[in-house]
This record gives sequence, structure tokens and C-alpha cells, in this order.
Amino acid sequence: MRMRTRGHLNERLERCGGLFIDPDSEPLPDRLQIEIGCGKGDFITETARRNPGVNYIAIERVSNVIVLAMEKAARAELTNLRFILGDFADVAEHFPDGCVERIYLNFSDPWPKNGNAKRRLTHGRFLELYKRILADGGEIFFKTDNRELFEFSLATFTENGFQLDNVTFDLHADGLEGNIMTEYEKRFTQMGVPICRLEARKSGLIS
Ligand SMILES: C[S@@+](CC[C@H](N)C(=O)[O-])C[C@H]1O[C@@H](n2cnc3c(N)ncnc32)[C@H](O)[C@@H]1O
Repeated sequence: MRMRTRGHLNERLERCGGLFIDPDSEPLPDRLQIEIGCGKGDFITETARRNPGVNYIAIERVSNVIVLAMEKAARAELTNLRFILGDFADVAEHFPDGCVERIYLNFSDPWPKNGNAKRRLTHGRFLELYKRILADGGEIFFKTDNRELFEFSLATFTENGFQLDNVTFDLHADGLEGNIMTEYEKRFTQMGVPICRLEARKSGLIS
């Protein structure tokens, strides 16, 4: 399905221009947390609002969608959240080794066909990129409604030496203090779909 172009997209992106970070020309903070695929930004704007002492970068490859996230951040006058428009695979090289303390992957596209497995954000190809940019002890918080993607991810994190914690196949039944719902999470939860969640830590032993 083609996404409808949102009205006056370029003007709206320009108005939020100060929130962009261009990793080609601007050094990234050396301690930060990132969300890959922030969508319309409910999760990352609320997370940044609750944690003013943490630097956040949200990465999203669709301009129609990132503009909504950026407008939310502008309205909330957040000074600790910036945005990168692009595919993480293309911008990862700009992140210095070990600069990221936490990566959020929320409802990442499942790419259900085996032929597209390499595009999943929890494929080993991406886990290699995360290992490089994560600090020792750095962590990945992953939520999804998609049981198959979750089981695939449990295997790839384990194969790549991550330590798994707080694994649940039903986040809302088990409870998580301070959980911040994403747009997709609200939608699937209303439909009665259980949400899977895990935390994957890079131990000092991972190379
Ligand atoms: C299913 S949506 C989920 C959006 C949001 N995280 C949520 O939970 O409501 C996945 C989002 O990730 C973005 N995305 C997928 N792969 C990406 C990549 N490699 N780099 C940046 N964004 C990506 C998509 O454009 C889409 O907006």
C-alpha cells in the first residue's frame, strides 16, 4: 500500500529542522540511547520527557512518519531528543564504537517471508552493528506483537552472545512498571493481541 503524502511535508520538516541531526556533518553525543524505527514517536517523546538527563536519537526511514514524531517533540519542547531520517543500515557507520547505552526496537517490521529475513532488525546482520555501537553492558529492549519474529529474535540474540533477561510472551499480563506504549502497542493491545518483550544485554565477553 502506498502511504499518502502528508500535506506540506517539506515545510513541516523544515519547521522541525533544528531537531534533525546530520551524522555526516555533526558528531553524535558519546553517551546516548536510540530508537530504531520510531514511527509516529509516542514512545520516544514520552521516554525523553521522563528522562531529561539522557540524550536520545530516534531513527526513522519514512519522512511522512518522522515528521509527526518531530512535531510531537517540538510541541513538548524537548531538548534531549534529536532525529535521523534514514535507514539504520545506512547510518550505523556514523555511530562511534560503544557510544550507545540502550537501543529500543518497538514493533519492528516482521518481514515474514524467509527470503526477507535479512531485513529484520533482529537479524544477525543488524546484531553485529548493534554489538559495535553498544557500550559494554549496553542493552536492547525489544517489543513485538509478532510471535514468529519474537521466536526468531530469541534465537538470533542467543546465537550472537547476548544475555537475555525479562523475557515475556505477554507483557501486559506480566506487567512492567513504567511501560510506555507505542502506537502499534496500543492498537494490538486493544485488539487483544499479547505483546512479547525481551531485554538483551551485551556482556563484556562479546567481541
Ligand atoms: C511497524 S512500525 C512501528 C512503529 C513504532 N515503533 C510503534 O511501535 O508504533 C516500524 C517502523 O520502523 C521503521 N523502520 C523499519 N526498518 C527501519 C530501518 N532499517 N531504519 C529506520 N527505520 C526503520 C518503519 O519505517 C516503520 O515506521
